[in-house]
Amino acid sequence: MLSDSLRAHRTESGRVLHVPFVDLAAQYRSIEEEIGEALQAVLADGDYILGRQVDVFETAFAQFVGVRYAVGASSGLDALRLALMALDISPGDEVILPANTYIATALAVSAVGAKPVLVDCDPLTYNIKAELVARAITPRTKAIIPVHLTGQPADMDQLLDLAARRGLPVIEDAAQAHGALHRGRPCGSLGAMGCFSFYPGKNLGAYGDGGMVTTNDARLWERLRSLRNYGQREKYEHIERGINARLDTLQAAVLNVKLRRLPAWNQARRSHAEKYRQLLAGVGDIVFQTLQPDSEHVYHLFVIETGQRDALRDFLAQAGVQTGVHYPKPIHLQKAYVDLGHKHADFPHTLNLSGRMISLPMYAELGMEQIRHICSRIRSFFNTPA
Ligand SMILES: Cc1ncc(COP(=O)(O)O)c(C=O)c1O
Repeated sequence: MLSDSLRAHRTESGRVLHVPFVDLAAQYRSIEEEIGEALQAVLADGDYILGRQVDVFETAFAQFVGVRYAVGASSGLDALRLALMALDISPGDEVILPANTYIATALAVSAVGAKPVLVDCDPLTYNIKAELVARAITPRTKAIIPVHLTGQPADMDQLLDLAARRGLPVIEDAAQAHGALHRGRPCGSLGAMGCFSFYPGKNLGAYGDGGMVTTNDARLWERLRSLRNYGQREKYEHIERGINARLDTLQAAVLNVKLRRLPAWNQARRSHAEKYRQLLAGVGDIVFQTLQPDSEHVYHLFVIETGQRDALRDFLAQAGVQTGVHYPKPIHLQKAYVDLGHKHADFPHTLNLSGRMISLPMYAELGMEQIRHICSRIRSFFNTPA
């Protein structure tokens, strides 16, 4: 006799399935040989800090994003921090960003001593809203950071227009949006600078931490290169107080191998998302993220909303399906930011989403049988016949 929990793991065809939220090992298996060769070459060369592979990757990534320059960094948080430093943002300044983002966006602003000013998100696309940004601008505002959350470009038209009218630089947080397009233009090429994360689970992920700042501005490029490397123009010539936030050469070698696959991986994510939408349409009280017109989503996350979030997550866990929540506790409710003095209900849409969102498994290697299994479990949770 099968136990109840084992029966729940079985697909319609009777196979036992466990579906992890992300499966980094599956991706590694598909590129194992090339990765091994790339790492061996770096190890044999011995140029471990800002080595040739970093230059090669910066050039390739700049081309991928459609910008002139890219500067490797040690993480997505450090990419944002370097971008803010390159604009001389400092204590007394304010930077506007969405309340509905990962805390790193706000932490970067705090890291340069400035104040993160949060604004609520659009309840349908989950991204920043230009009208709310306009209301939050003060004489101290020095920059705006839209976040292309979940891999969907923020509504940039109005925002870029507003920023241009008010003379404010836009730093895109594209940590979740490698390859996403807004009106045919890549995220990371739309503002003064774009900041990316190569955290392992990202659409383009390293085997450790990594990040990148992209820009078309030669002055910012030079500044970023110096800032990430102790403020050096050349060895032991420190023109300003920089930090150590360099992209590791071994990680750059990994990223060079993976970047070639990214378009195909993003395409696979888009087709998984379509399948999810097809199989879950009209099921229970499920609501999908509204798609931004004229945009290409890269589905770093595939998110659904439901009023029964926690019960559905438990049910899926019993069925061997791991899910995520992005993010269960908004920034304004985190202890780290009590000094901002926000009230619980200051950002109602962000708060509402934090209690309703579930991220379903999403990665290129996800199989159709796994997607069918996940969707059939969700239908059975809601008692919706197939
Ligand atoms: C929206 C957003 N911004 C910034 C970051 C920070 O990136 P990292 O983890 O590489 O520091 C992340 C990812 O963790 C993120 O999702």
